[in-house]
Amino acid sequence: MNLLIFGAPGSGKGTQAEFIKERLGIPQIATGDILRSEKRRQTELGVQAQKYMDAGKLVPDDLVIAMLQKRLAEPDCSAGFLLDGFPRTVVQAQVLDRMMLGLRKQFDRALYLYVPPEKLVERLSGRLTCPECGRTYHPKSKPPRNDSVCDFDGTELYQREDDTPETARTRIQVYLDDTLPVLDYYRSGNIVREIDGDRPIEEVKSAILEALNSPPAADAATSPHGGEEKVLL
Ligand code: AP5
Repeated sequence: MNLLIFGAPGSGKGTQAEFIKERLGIPQIATGDILRSEKRRQTELGVQAQKYMDAGKLVPDDLVIAMLQKRLAEPDCSAGFLLDGFPRTVVQAQVLDRMMLGLRKQFDRALYLYVPPEKLVERLSGRLTCPECGRTYHPKSKPPRNDSVCDFDGTELYQREDDTPETARTRIQVYLDDTLPVLDYYRSGNIVREIDGDRPIEEVKSAILEALNSPPAADAATSPHGGEEKVLL
C-alpha cells in the first residue's frame, strides 16, 4: 500500500505511523525526521533548513522536493510506503503527483487525523522525543517506562527545539494557512479517510485499521471538519 498520513503538528501522525509501518511492513518516510537528521549532521541541506525549522516555518519547496525524490527512489519503497509530513503545500502535492506517475504508483489512502487546534499546543510542548529512533512520548498520554529514556533503545529523550509553546503556535498557523488546503487536493480522488484523533492512542489506532480495511466510500469526499479548524483557532 502507498499511504499518506496527514494532520496538524501534534495530531499524532508519528505515533500512529509507528504501528502502521510495522503492521504493513512498509517504510515510514517522515520528511521532518529526515530534515532533523540532516540538521544534526550539519549537511548543506541541514544548514539551509535549520533556520526555517527552528522558527516553525516550512522549508522551501525545492529543497524538500529534491530530498523526497531521492528517498522515494530507494529500493525499500518499491513495495509501498507511508508518507508522513509531505506534501505540505499544494505545489508539493502537484509535484508528488508527477513523481507517483513516473514511478507508476498511486496512493491507496490519505489518513487525515483531526484534532482541534486548541489541544495541539499542550501535546507539542509536553512531547519528549528520542533523538535516535524518533519515537515520541508525553507525560500524560504516553509516558516512557523509565523516566526520561526511550523504551525502545534506552536513549535519553529530549525536547525538540520547535516544541516551545510559541513556535508550536506558529507551526499550527502555518499548517492552517499552507497545508490544510492540500487536503482538498486529495478529496476528489476519494482516498481521504477522516479520523478523530482526539481520543486515546489505542482508539485512534483501531479507527485507522478500520479505515485501511474499508472500501472506497461514496461519502469520503465530505468532511465533518472541513474548514472548522479556521474557526476554532
Ligand atoms: P515534522 O517533524 O513533520 O513535524 P509536524 O508535522 O509539525 O508533526 P509533529 O512531528 O510535530 O507531530 P505528529 O503529528 O507526528 O505528532 P506525534 O505523534 O509526535 O516537521 C518539522 C518541521 O520540518 C516543519 O515545521 C518544517 O519546518 C519542516 N518540514 C517537514 N516536512 C516538510 C515539508 N514537506 N515541507 C516543508 N517543510 C517541512 O504526537 C505529538 C504528541 O502528542 C506526542 O507527545 C504524543 O505522545 C502525543 N499524542 C499522540 N497521540 C495522542 C493521542 N491520541 N492523545 C493524546 N496525546 C497523543
